[in-house]
Amino acid sequence: MKGIILAGGNGTRLHPITLAVSKQLLPVYDKPMVYYPLSVLMLAGIRDILVISSPRDLPQFRKVLGDGSSLGIGLSYAEQARPGGLAEAFTIGADHIGDGSVALVLGDNIFHGPGFSLLLQEHTPHTDGALLFGYPVRDPERYGVGEADEEGRLLSIEEKPARPRSNRAITGLYFYDNDVIGIARGLRPSARGELEITDVNKEYLARDKARLVDLGRGFTWLDTGTHDSLLDAGQYIQTLEHRQGLRIACIEEVALRMGFIDAEQCFRLGERLGGSGYGQYVMEIARSLRDAGPQERAGSLAGPRYGGLALPTTV
Ligand code: G1P
Repeated sequence: MKGIILAGGNGTRLHPITLAVSKQLLPVYDKPMVYYPLSVLMLAGIRDILVISSPRDLPQFRKVLGDGSSLGIGLSYAEQARPGGLAEAFTIGADHIGDGSVALVLGDNIFHGPGFSLLLQEHTPHTDGALLFGYPVRDPERYGVGEADEEGRLLSIEEKPARPRSNRAITGLYFYDNDVIGIARGLRPSARGELEITDVNKEYLARDKARLVDLGRGFTWLDTGTHDSLLDAGQYIQTLEHRQGLRIACIEEVALRMGFIDAEQCFRLGERLGGSGYGQYVMEIARSLRDAGPQERAGSLAGPRYGGLALPTTV
C-alpha cells in the first residue's frame, strides 16, 4: 500500500500566520504539524509516501523531511498547482499509487489513541473498496458526516450537511483500492470548484464498497484549521507529553520502533537535532533500545507491550 499526505491549501483561516508559511509546517507544540500525519502512515507500516503541496510550500517540505532515507522510508513530492480539492490527490498521485491500494491522510489531522497502529496494520494489507474512519464530534456540520450499519457498512455520507444525520465526522484518513484513481478522474468540481473527497466516497457507497470504522471515545482526533484549534492541539500534545515523558508522533522513534532504522541510525538523527529537548529524547530512546537485551529488543517490534521499549500501538 502506498501513502499520500495532502498538505496543500492556502490556510486562509489561519491568516496572517500562513501568509508565508504552509499551515502543515506550523508547530503543534514541539514539532511541525506534518509529523503527525506522517507518523500515522508509518505506524500503518507504509514506507512509500508522496507529499503533495503547493508550488510555494513544496521546497520547505523537502527541507524539513528530505527523501525519507534517514527514516528508512521513501518520500517523494508533487505539486498541486492550486487548491483543487482533496480528491485531486489521486490524479496527481496516480503514478505513485501504481496498480495497488493507497492511504490518504490530510496534513492537518492529528490522531492519537490506543491500538491505532494495530488497527491500521490490520487493514493495510487487504483494502477492498473504501475504508473510512469515523469519530464522534459535537459539531458534525463542519465535516463530512457518515452513517454506518452494525457491520460497519457505510449507509450515507454528506459533506458539511446543515442537518447532520449522525454525529460521526469522517476523519481525514482514507484507505482505498486502486479504483480510486478512475473514480477521481471521473469527478466534476463541486459548487466551490473543488474535487470533493466526499464525492469519491459517494461513488464507493453507490457500489456498496464503502466501510466505516469507528474510532470512538477514548481516542483523540483533532484538527488544526483555526487559531483556537491549533492552540488546543498544541496544548493537548504538551499536556500528554509532560505527563508521560513520551513524545507523540516523534517520527524518528516511530521509525525505530517499526524496525525501519536501527538504534545507531536513530541516535544519529537525535544528535543532528542539536540541543533541543526533542533531539535529546530521540537519543534517549535510541540509547535505551540499543542497550536493551535481545529479548526486550525483539519484544519492541513484536507486541503492544509498553514498557518504554515495546512497539507502541500509538506514538
Ligand atoms: C475535509 C473533508 C471532510 C473531512 C475533513 C476532515 O474538510 O472535505 O469531509 O471531514 O476534511 O478534516 P475540509 O478540511 O476541507 O473542510
